[in-house]
Amino acid sequence: MPTGSTEKIPFEKLYQDGEKSGPLMPWNIGGPQPAVRAICDRGGFRGHVLDLGCGLGDNALYLASRGLRVSAVDISEVAVQCGRDKARDHGVSVDFQVTDAFRLAESGVRYDAVLDSAFFHTLPQEEVPRYTELLRTLCKEGAELHLFTFSKELTPDYPGPRRISEPELREAFGADWDIKVIEATRYHSSLPPEAVAQMVDPRTFEVNAPTDNLAAQMVDEAGNVVSHIWHMHAVLRPQATRSESPA
Ligand SMILES: C[S@@+](CC[C@H](N)C(=O)[O-])C[C@H]1O[C@@H](n2cnc3c(N)ncnc32)[C@H](O)[C@@H]1O
Repeated sequence: MPTGSTEKIPFEKLYQDGEKSGPLMPWNIGGPQPAVRAICDRGGFRGHVLDLGCGLGDNALYLASRGLRVSAVDISEVAVQCGRDKARDHGVSVDFQVTDAFRLAESGVRYDAVLDSAFFHTLPQEEVPRYTELLRTLCKEGAELHLFTFSKELTPDYPGPRRISEPELREAFGADWDIKVIEATRYHSSLPPEAVAQMVDPRTFEVNAPTDNLAAQMVDEAGNVVSHIWHMHAVLRPQATRSESPA
C-alpha cells in the first residue's frame, strides 16, 4: 500500500494560490501549533533555535515571543514574506530566511535546538539520509530536536504526504540522536474534512484509502481536521558516542 508522496509538493504554488483565493494550506491555522506551544512553555527549547520549513512563521514567532533566539527558514518566498510581515506587525524578532534547508549547512552556523513541524514528512523517502546528515551538521552536540511528523500507525486513511512509523524514526535517527521520547500528539489544521479531501491532488499526494473516510477524522471545536502525528524529542550525542547502527 502506498504511503508516500511520489513527487515533491509544489509549496510555492500552494502559497501563491492561497494568497489569491484564501487559506488553502491546511497547516495555516493562524497561530502556533498547540503541541509546539506546549513544549516551548515547558522549556523544551533553548539557546539559538532553528525552525526548519517554517511555513508562515507562526511557530517561530511564538518561540521568539517567549524570549528565544530564533532563525526560521523556508523554501517559499511567499511564506517567508508572510512570516516577516507578522514579525514586524507584532514587534517580534525572528531571523527569517528564504532558502532550501539543504543549503543551510554551508552557512557554518550551529544551533542549540531544531524544530521540525511537518517538514520531515514532506521529504521523499530517498532524502531521509540527506536530511539526517543535514541535522547532524546543523546542530551542536547536545542539541535538542523536536520533530513532528505524520505517523504511519496513527493515520492509515488520511490523504497527505509520507507517513512515518516509529521504527522508521528510530532507524533514521537512533544512530546519532539519543531519542528521549516518541509520542503520539495532534497537529491542527485550518480546514474541515470536505475541504481537505478536495485539496488532495493525486499528482501530489498518494491516497491510502477513499477520501470519504475523512468524514471520520478527528476535528476540533471549529470542525477542522486534527491529525495524529508523532512528536519525537531527541538530543544529539557527542560525536565519539554515536553508533554505527541505530539504537
Ligand atoms: C507542511 S508545511 C509546514 C509548515 C510549518 N512548519 C507548520 O507546521 O505550519 C512544510 C513546509 O516546508 C517547506 N519546505 C519544503 N521543502 C523545503 C526545503 N527543501 N527547504 C526549506 N523549506 C522547505 C514548505 O515550503 C512548507 O512551508
